[in-house]
Amino acid sequence: MEQARKILVTAALPYANGLAHMGHLVEYIQTDIWVRFQRLIGNDCVFVCASDAHGTPIMIRARNDDIDPEELISYYHDKYQEHFAAFHICFDNFHTTHSQENRDLVEKIYASLKSAGHLDTRTIRQAFDEKEAMFLPDRFVRGTCPRCGAADQYGDSCESCGATYSPSELIEPTSILSGTRPVERESDHLFFRLGDFEEDLRQWVSSGALQESVRKKLAEWFDVGLQDWDISRDAPYFGFEIPDMPGKYFYVWLDAPVGYMASLLDLSRRRQDLNFEEYWDPDSDAEVYHFIGKDIVYFHSLFWPAVLRAAGFRVPTGVFAHGFLTVNGEKMSKSRGTFITAATYLDHLNPECLRYYYAAKLGSGVEDMDLNLDDFIQKVNSDLVGKLVNIASRCAGFIARLSDGRLAEALPDPELHASFENGATAVAAAYESRRYSRAMREIMAMADLANQFIDRHKPWVMAKQDDQKDLVQGVCTQGINAFRSLMIMLKPVLPGMAAAAEQFLGEEELVWQDIGRPLLGTRIRKFEPLMKRIDPKAVAAMVEASRESLGASPTGASATDPLGGETAKEITIDDFKRIDLRVAQIISAELVEGADKLLRLELDLGDSRRQVLAGIRSAYHPDALTDRLVVVVANLEARKMRFGTSQGMVLAAGPGGEEIFLLSPDTGAKPGMQVT
Ligand code: MSP
Ligand code: ZN
Repeated sequence: MEQARKILVTAALPYANGLAHMGHLVEYIQTDIWVRFQRLIGNDCVFVCASDAHGTPIMIRARNDDIDPEELISYYHDKYQEHFAAFHICFDNFHTTHSQENRDLVEKIYASLKSAGHLDTRTIRQAFDEKEAMFLPDRFVRGTCPRCGAADQYGDSCESCGATYSPSELIEPTSILSGTRPVERESDHLFFRLGDFEEDLRQWVSSGALQESVRKKLAEWFDVGLQDWDISRDAPYFGFEIPDMPGKYFYVWLDAPVGYMASLLDLSRRRQDLNFEEYWDPDSDAEVYHFIGKDIVYFHSLFWPAVLRAAGFRVPTGVFAHGFLTVNGEKMSKSRGTFITAATYLDHLNPECLRYYYAAKLGSGVEDMDLNLDDFIQKVNSDLVGKLVNIASRCAGFIARLSDGRLAEALPDPELHASFENGATAVAAAYESRRYSRAMREIMAMADLANQFIDRHKPWVMAKQDDQKDLVQGVCTQGINAFRSLMIMLKPVLPGMAAAAEQFLGEEELVWQDIGRPLLGTRIRKFEPLMKRIDPKAVAAMVEASRESLGASPTGASATDPLGGETAKEITIDDFKRIDLRVAQIISAELVEGADKLLRLELDLGDSRRQVLAGIRSAYHPDALTDRLVVVVANLEARKMRFGTSQGMVLAAGPGGEEIFLLSPDTGAKPGMQVT
């Protein structure tokens, strides 16, 4: 047998300020299938990921929500973990870039870059928001395009004419944070001299690490000339402060890919068999692959390998980029209900259906991919239910009834089985090269052969004659083995269904080589349908649940995002009774320094007092609130915020801003009374 390969695989680190959605899942499912395939054929494959916790958008989002960035990122970290697990994504570790491991590695890398002379300090001019007292990333400035005059364009490029420019060139620039006109300010920044690594990069590219189309893109970038890379940002910033530059932080894109290493480092501390250095040493014989979306190719094919080389680590064996997802032929859209989060999908559908559909559509290139919902229903129902599960369900009953659940001792058509073994070789090659759509086509062609075999021998006719019991057993044993082989081949895509099939076959963890060892003479268990048809109504309900009625909030929080205003589902009376609503009297109210939206309320609940931080400042002056009766959710879990702990929530109506209306009981109500 060939020597097992030692492989490290990563998927890009999702930003910890949103929920996983169908677009993300293209990547995590694609990567997961590859990892599972490697393990199934016997390779030693470690799969790490993390949430990407730093950067300006995360800082601003936390500020708008009046919570600590730490709380924000840990909320989304947990959500990612939960949803990825539900989609069977088998990370060995899902770490965070906001971790000590990552800080240590980034500082170490910084020290090497610096001592080897690959960093320069330069003064740059940048847009500065005087009201918010912070430098603005280009995307935080909007204005009129200096070339074509299109209004409301980003500070770095025009979506209308494609021009690229700097924010200062915009006509009438405004800061999206404060709405004021930014000024230009100078600041010292650290630059990584990417050009120092042009030769290394060219060599790396010629090693075959990249897809053809990405390689071409790189050739263009080489032609234009490699620009130095600004790796520092000014405070306020949520990230790692640069050790010897107080007030300056590492740019999120410097520490993000280091997060791959940090996740492995963290894992290696828990797993004795795993040695961090073995993967990252320059002369490592392990293979390292990064799966990414096409939007982040520049970071992974230029900056990252150059930083690795500069810091004395090995470079990746391969970077595999995929295209972007459209739904029903268009960009995912909240108003059309096609911005579907992993959570909403899981409320309505089986995750393995999506895994199969993506596999059936994914090739090895960077082309965009469409999730057409009608095609999705049709494809899953016809392939998985109509072809695959059908093989087992047509055979299992006869084996149970006529042979007491026992399979025959030999296959009546060994050639058919041999053709599956041959087919498996082609399928393996397709998985290895990420041509999953080809793998799925080959597998379904074999499923057709198996069904034709059963059609030809008509076990349901033979079963009527007592003297043909053995023949029926043989045909059905062949059918069950065909199903088993196909299920092994599909195991990377359908791990849950494969586990159920193993149960049914009465087998332990099947591996790829088991295709060559047919299951004979043993007892199988009772057959339970392994997959149900997708009901088009479930898909329609999922789209409906994804449709946003309220406009998206400026922070990007949405109706489908629990940190934003979630639209409520129907609940039972018992659910309602779990909420302890009480009358409370406001003893005092005051402004909260540093929070534009909050008031600190001191409440009397009859037998107790408590503090609530309420987001009602835009509508109420604190003086107007003293003595007022309100309704409070008394058993709400206490929430730690940047400005203290909030112990409950006061009820109010309205969209926000000046239109917030506190709910008040009539006079006569007493603090502590239950609201029912
Ligand atoms: N945080 C960075 C990656 C850092 S890696 C060191 C990031 N995060 S992301 O949350 O925006 O995206 C995570 C991955 O999902 C990226 O590879 C991205 O390309 C991919 N996708 C996000 N939306 C997508 C689609 N609509 N379609 C396909 N992939 C998409 O980028
Ligand atoms: Zn323009």
